[in-house]
Amino acid sequence: DALDLVLRNARVATAADTFVCDIGVRGGRIALLGEGLPAGKREIDIAGRTVTPGGVDAHCHLDQPMEGPAKMADDFLTGTRSAACGGTTTVIPFAAQMKGQSLEAAVLDYHGRAEGKASVDYAFHLIVSDPTPTVLAKELPALIAQGYTSFKVYMTYDDLKLDDGQVLDVLDVARTHGALAMIHAENADCIEWLTKRLEAAGRTAPRWHAHARPMLVEREATHRAIALSELVDVPILIVHVSGREAIEQIRWARAQGLPVFAETCPQYLFLTAEDLGIDDSYQGARCVCSPPPRDKANQQRIWEGLADGLFTVFSSDHAPFRFEDPQGKKPGGQEVPFRHIPNGIPGLETRLALLYSEGVLGGRITLQKFVELTATNPAKAYGLHPRKGTIAVGSDADLVVWDERELTVRNERLHHAVDYTPYEGTPLKAWPGLTLLRGEVVWDGQRFTGAAGRGRFLPCGTPSLLPRRT
Ligand code: URP
Ligand code: ZN
Ligand code: ZN
Ligand code: ZN
Repeated sequence: DALDLVLRNARVATAADTFVCDIGVRGGRIALLGEGLPAGKREIDIAGRTVTPGGVDAHCHLDQPMEGPAKMADDFLTGTRSAACGGTTTVIPFAAQMKGQSLEAAVLDYHGRAEGKASVDYAFHLIVSDPTPTVLAKELPALIAQGYTSFKVYMTYDDLKLDDGQVLDVLDVARTHGALAMIHAENADCIEWLTKRLEAAGRTAPRWHAHARPMLVEREATHRAIALSELVDVPILIVHVSGREAIEQIRWARAQGLPVFAETCPQYLFLTAEDLGIDDSYQGARCVCSPPPRDKANQQRIWEGLADGLFTVFSSDHAPFRFEDPQGKKPGGQEVPFRHIPNGIPGLETRLALLYSEGVLGGRITLQKFVELTATNPAKAYGLHPRKGTIAVGSDADLVVWDERELTVRNERLHHAVDYTPYEGTPLKAWPGLTLLRGEVVWDGQRFTGAAGRGRFLPCGTPSLLPRRT
């Protein structure tokens, strides 16, 4: 059979190698990699530009119901469209269990939210907020077997947090059934105690959010998460690591030989606590997320951790709330005390270009490391590799062709439903010129050319970052 598509003269980058070849696509998968491939039904000459695997964003929140008036701006329609335009072809958002809800009901609910709307492929992590005996003994094991092989647990947020005993119970299920637990590590009681003191002193502007969540509350919880995983003898992945103190805990764990993985996000490379405000202005509410961005010295520690293998995955933690919106950063239309500002910032579309520009073209990480952090490792961590996350014969033809040119991040050019980007005005050295999802162009460098409903649900297999347990 003739090839459906041939990309000529690609400079292909994988997590291991860079090589120049043609890429032949048939039936949405990579069929041939080689020199002088036969003509395809469609041909695109890449002219030596760099091609990386479609991005796998393994931490993003889409259409997740919130407590109170807040509502996420992006659903699966706008969120996955935005992903495609930024070079991401697989997203793994969360199916969050509400307290009192069964996990199965949560999963059904989220399938309904994604169905007919997603334009890139998607899987789900579970969020376990109510580990009842039934959840632990029946529901979670059954869902793991059905392809939901990762879940997130929270050590903070009133509606989501688990105590240490509950975390141990859930980790034990991960160990028995071969799932990967993601942990949000911040000490809830310290945050509440600090928040009350700040409020009593009238310190409620957005910038005080960072003071209510200093690095030590992240350090303590990270240490505790590591100890809990060591006790159960199971790998964990610490999400959204913000700076030096949590990094030091993870380096210590690694030095002990513990299987502790870590994720970081663009906000810890490109923002600082000053973006939450240097005075009592409410503008800083845009950058309120948890853990908060730190300072320049910590950004440097994060870059080092990306370069030297401390970090396994680089995700957006896209948590989209509009600024000028009573359902967003101004609940009920008011400038509220920081405690009531919905946490999270958008970043699905800018994740890859920021890291490619400042990391690869800025000489801070290799092209191989970029591919590993943004595609290959997230696919392995969550059981989607080698179908996703690499450029290899048999893999889905999810590809990004890079345009290396100078541009500036402008929210008006993005495709999410959020009315700002924290990276407004940031200079970039590259942007995806083409994004292909299973061999079809979904972003042509100018506009979104994908279609709602074209994205498929991906059941996840066993995480494959580590050798199989025997
Ligand atoms: O501030 C954040 N990161 N909000 C999203 C939820 C989470 O904890 O990842
Ligand atoms: Zn979600
Ligand atoms: Zn989190
Ligand atoms: Zn998150």
